[in-house]
Amino acid sequence: MKKLAVIGANEFQNPLIEKAKEMGFETHVFAWAAGDIGEQTADVFHPISITEKEAIWQVCRQAGVQACCSIGSDLAVHTVNYVQRRLGNPCNPDITDTIATNKYAMRQALTEAGVACPRFLRVSAAPEETALDGMGWPLIVKPTDRSGSRGIYKVEDYAALAAAVPLAVEQSFEKAAIIEQFISGTEYSCESISFAGEHHILALTKKYTTGAPHFIETGHAEPADDIPPALLPAVRGTVLSALDALHIAYGASHAEFLITPQGDVRIVEVGARMGGDCIGSDLVYLSTGVDFMAAVIDAACGRAPDLTPKRAPGPARIRFIFTAADAAEMERIRRAAPDTVWRAEYDGAPDKAVTDSSNRHGYWITTV
Ligand SMILES: Nc1ncnc2c1ncn2[C@@H]1O[C@H](COP(=O)(O)OP(=O)(O)O)[C@@H](O)[C@H]1O
Ligand SMILES: [Mg+2]
Repeated sequence: MKKLAVIGANEFQNPLIEKAKEMGFETHVFAWAAGDIGEQTADVFHPISITEKEAIWQVCRQAGVQACCSIGSDLAVHTVNYVQRRLGNPCNPDITDTIATNKYAMRQALTEAGVACPRFLRVSAAPEETALDGMGWPLIVKPTDRSGSRGIYKVEDYAALAAAVPLAVEQSFEKAAIIEQFISGTEYSCESISFAGEHHILALTKKYTTGAPHFIETGHAEPADDIPPALLPAVRGTVLSALDALHIAYGASHAEFLITPQGDVRIVEVGARMGGDCIGSDLVYLSTGVDFMAAVIDAACGRAPDLTPKRAPGPARIRFIFTAADAAEMERIRRAAPDTVWRAEYDGAPDKAVTDSSNRHGYWITTV
């Protein structure tokens, strides 16, 4: 039987495990044992932390897995590619693992390739005020190597910056933060799949966040139909240049960008993986009909992905539950228009404060 390794077992990875089973694979799922749903869905669950690259590879080798994939986690990218390279499957070069998961290395690579970026600075402690000369205000402070809006601060002055930097550094695995000029604009992402260096843009996603100071995602919608058509060539051009700058050649990518009031397109960050937050697992499929997860599994196995639509395209959106009012809205829609709800999850504990995207209380996906 064909065997596929999936890195990660939480609710956002689970659709990939289900898809692989549907495609006839025996699934070998790797994650820290935490009672996550994927532990049950997996044909074989291996309780090994997703960062234990060599241990995971040894199990994959002994089990005879054909390929390895994951959905939307930067942490998993390193392990997926480590295993893929040892299996001899086509995947992105080593350098992509670093420059697509470290925000400072990414800014450097984009800038060197001529992709317009805000000015940026790497720090491990609050810098002297003079180090910020010419950057202006506001600025944004972020851990170099985290995701899910952890440790993100928009700051308006030096005192706020000096307070934010240690908090962002603390959140960072490598204990470093990046300070960037803040770009105002409307936020989107671009979902693509690449094979043998050829990029296929599948969808543009509109992103909704809490805004300053922490920018936690509150929802996403596809297609992003409010982008003026005249700007689409610049969007495509900027995204494709960014993918090339990061040497992305195989598999999914998720490029986050802003469109400024002047119509400039500016990359926020690029993941060499699917968008999380159900963008890769659900929204792309619903809005384009392309079976993105099957395409990612095919690409991981070294097969050119099938990008023909498998369902009629239509609008799709996800909304996240932050408060009891959000949960009530989800319940209302579930009752009023159950056919429009594609999937929903809710932890039933809206009293706990949401500090980043990992402790939101749930979500619902609709097809209207
Ligand atoms: N330079 C910037 N200018 C304006 N907003 C930014 C900038 N960098 C990040 N943001 C905002 O913060 C959010 C999180 O930043 P991002 O770099 O994507 O980190 P994460 O890995 O946590 O998603 C972005 O989605 C965006 O809303
Ligand atoms: Mg981001």
